[in-house]
Amino acid sequence: MNSVPLIVRAIKKEEIPRFPVWMMRQAGRYLPEYRQMKEKYSFSELCLNSELSVEVALQPISRFDFDAAILFSDIMIPARALGFEIEFNPGPVVGNAIKTTKQIEQLSTSPDLECLREVFSAVRGLRNALPEQIGVIGFAATPWTLACYLLDQKPFKHFERSLIWAEKEPESLKLLLAKLTELTRLYITEQVRAGAQVIQLFDSWGGILPPARYQELSLDYTEQVLQAASPASTILYVNGASPYLESLNSSKVDVLSVDSKTELSSLTKAIQGNLDASVLFGATVKEQTLRMLSGLGRNTGYVANLGHGVLQETPVEGVRQFVESVKSFKL
Ligand code: CP3
Repeated sequence: MNSVPLIVRAIKKEEIPRFPVWMMRQAGRYLPEYRQMKEKYSFSELCLNSELSVEVALQPISRFDFDAAILFSDIMIPARALGFEIEFNPGPVVGNAIKTTKQIEQLSTSPDLECLREVFSAVRGLRNALPEQIGVIGFAATPWTLACYLLDQKPFKHFERSLIWAEKEPESLKLLLAKLTELTRLYITEQVRAGAQVIQLFDSWGGILPPARYQELSLDYTEQVLQAASPASTILYVNGASPYLESLNSSKVDVLSVDSKTELSSLTKAIQGNLDASVLFGATVKEQTLRMLSGLGRNTGYVANLGHGVLQETPVEGVRQFVESVKSFKL
């Protein structure tokens, strides 16, 4: 049996018997065994204790036999290394969010990753716990998406503050993005060193940028982070990718992970996605999954996944059908 994980072979467009499958947010609240853990521990405790983090990350693998396990953590956790106070309720709450350009100037240029050592030992623990064929995915947010959470958004609701900051304080925003890029490069390097074979970057809020500014404010920084992932394979998830396909197609990332509104045939790289997460609630999981797969060329580098994270109320039976449908589709 080939010891390289199926997901890595698929990304490299090697000959494989079937497509690999995993789901964004595959460890989490739709699973009864996760909800049980949450009765005892807070989300932060699960992220910052490597044994607990590994246990949670393995839950969906034991139940569904996914082809990859993703580190159990959150995109906001590494911001702790720059002195940000991060809580979850259930979404991220930044105690000392950025209100002034001075705060950005004062952020360290040499973040101390010591407070993240449990994260790296969780990656190592995952790699040791899993058979060779199952890939380990590390992750981070793109600098732009991280900045969206760190800039104090009050009184706005949809990250308008980040766009306004880009207009009023462009140099300050770029300094912030550069510092977050450095942090994320170090963070990714350590994850790869600990055994992550694939790195996924989440540009969850890339989609709020006007297309003419996407490259300048998000993708250019993302590319710098991607360089630090070598020799791991790289995936870039962009929520709302459609307006940026030209830039994304020419980026250096290995795989583009896109939302369910993006046409897969418009992508020229290896692809991840993009079944709409709502499909798992219905009676046609198999039909819709097979339809998605049969639209792909035989030589497409492809990783089956959803168009965004699995939803909290998703029936586990829908997830099972999704995984089984992908696995039944022979190449
Ligand atoms: O299984 C996995 O995918 C690994 C773990 C993971 C979490 N968050 C756990 C989590 C990953 C990869 C993330 C990424 C993440 N976090 C993103 C990018 C993905 C995306 O959806 O675009 C974003 C934007 C966040 C920020 C975040 N963290 C939000 C908005 C929320 C709350 C609402 C939600 O969607 O769950 C969180 C909290 C969070 N992160 C939970 C989990 C399991 C829920 C916490 C709880 O159980 O109370």
